[in-house]
Amino acid sequence: MTRISVTIDGLSYDDDVEPRLLFVHYLRDRLGLVGTTIGCDTSNCGACTVLFDGDSVKSCTMLAVQADGGEVTTIQGLSPAGASQDELHPLQRAFHTHHALQCGYCTPGMIMASAGFLAEHPDPSDDEIRHGLEGNLCRCTGYQNIVRAVSAAAAEMRAAPAGAGLEEGART
Ligand code: FES
Ligand code: FES
Repeated sequence: MTRISVTIDGLSYDDDVEPRLLFVHYLRDRLGLVGTTIGCDTSNCGACTVLFDGDSVKSCTMLAVQADGGEVTTIQGLSPAGASQDELHPLQRAFHTHHALQCGYCTPGMIMASAGFLAEHPDPSDDEIRHGLEGNLCRCTGYQNIVRAVSAAAAEMRAAPAGAGLEEGART
């Protein structure tokens, strides 16, 4: 067992984990954070995406021990800066408004990948959004409404005085 300390969605965790434990399994099975989903076993789908120290990562591609000392945001902790966790992030609202999901299985990863992408590209073109999300697969929507939603959220976040919080990537 290896001791890790990690901050997830604003809460600190100290845990002993097996060195082979995948981070996505730590989130889901140890902590019960099942908002982060698993869609494949090949690191291809992106359903498991979270923010790790502000960057979007596929949590099935890292070990829990690699999260030691890091700050993680999952779909369950994504909220605007200065807002309560109950308030939806602009991306979450935009996915709802623009019907950017059907079964919803890809949605947590799609939103977290979008959050990481918009932190680096606050005013993206549709092509840039498609390129930025190419590591995330959706079997339902055909992607068009996802692109619309991300573009709308980006516009809202640019207009928001507080910058809507993506620079932090997580609640603090
Ligand atoms: S579950 Fe991680 S990429 Fe598919
Ligand atoms: S909404 Fe079903 S996989 Fe994307």
